[in-house]
Amino acid sequence: MKHREAFRSCRNSMIAGIAVAAYFAALCPCRAAAQTLAAAPPMGWNSWNHFHRTIDDKTVRAQADAMVSTGMRDAGYIYVNIDDTWQGERDAQGNMQANSKFPDMKDLADYVHSKGLKIGIYSSPGAKTCAGYEGSLGHEEQDAATYAKWGFDYLKYDLCGLRTELKAAPTPEAAHKMMVDAYIKMRDALHKTGRPIVYSLCQYGNDAVWRWGTDVGGNLWRTTGDINDHYARMVEIGFSQAGLARFAGPGHWNDPDMLEVGNGGMTSDEYRQHMSLWVILAAPLLAGNDLTSMTAETTAMLTNHEVIAIDQDRLGQQGDRVSAEGPLEIWEKQLADGSKAVGVFNRHATALSIPVDFKQLGFRKSVRVRDIWQAKDLGSMKDSYTVTVPPHGVVLLRVK
Ligand code: GLA
Repeated sequence: MKHREAFRSCRNSMIAGIAVAAYFAALCPCRAAAQTLAAAPPMGWNSWNHFHRTIDDKTVRAQADAMVSTGMRDAGYIYVNIDDTWQGERDAQGNMQANSKFPDMKDLADYVHSKGLKIGIYSSPGAKTCAGYEGSLGHEEQDAATYAKWGFDYLKYDLCGLRTELKAAPTPEAAHKMMVDAYIKMRDALHKTGRPIVYSLCQYGNDAVWRWGTDVGGNLWRTTGDINDHYARMVEIGFSQAGLARFAGPGHWNDPDMLEVGNGGMTSDEYRQHMSLWVILAAPLLAGNDLTSMTAETTAMLTNHEVIAIDQDRLGQQGDRVSAEGPLEIWEKQLADGSKAVGVFNRHATALSIPVDFKQLGFRKSVRVRDIWQAKDLGSMKDSYTVTVPPHGVVLLRVK
């Protein structure tokens, strides 16, 4: 009897548990979908940093080809994202059409898919995009349906054009609500298509987007203004990310903007610093260079599997700053196997040495240390290890 009652009460609480879980899943289908959509920070390529307004169909196909031939795809780079300037006029029914640079979007999407890749597109919640092309204001559902019909898998939704409307709002609160509503509107429109489409919010980190980005369905959200191919700008963006770690996780990521690696404006050490900081930040890795003409060094940097593994680690824990001493900073990222990625960054113009204190990193016993960029096991260590970091460089360790 006792057993039967215990069984019943256990069964009832299981049923109640399932019902509660189902209720919350129904309340928030977007969040459930987001979990599977961007379980790890999205990886791919985006046209803007290198090609700006010159991006066209032929270039996108060539990048997709290169994504495969260079090993980028096999390293995890999957999304081929078309940024601003693809848009043409709307037809009589208001359906969005591409401009003459993109003769057949569906055919292009099919081509990219045939390479085992996915494809992304770009729009704005305003009437116009940043580059002055047609935005989605008033056509959200129609545009989402068009992207789904063409076969797109990713949308970057860039505030830009809506800023004029936001400025006219009577109060900052009203402007905030207008912006949030605009992002919710496109979230719902994407959801209605039934196609899984990664939703990338781009509004430059305004109004602490990391606090509400998940609620409006964002799988990633830009936390800063635009990056460019200069060391000072990369540093300004990258090192400003301290404190944001708790807002990121599987399905929803902080996005400090696309990579500049390989675009030519920084030294190899600077690009290594860029890449190392981005992986510790669990940042989306969207290459922004021309994949058809990469040097062997750039390819090696972008496809280093031990570096990428830090970014894509299944724990999905964004890293953060541990200490700062002027231009020297130590950042760490907890990894699923109990080890930590440790980045020792030097922003100074000459080499500097600094001890890495393993106790400060939470390790009580002796540790095993591997230098990731050198691909070298450094053996077992206790207490601390003094590294010498090249000017504008990084030493990236995996400590266990
Ligand atoms: C904004 C975005 C950039 C890029 C351009 C395109 O500046 O932040 O990433 O998409 O618009 O016009």
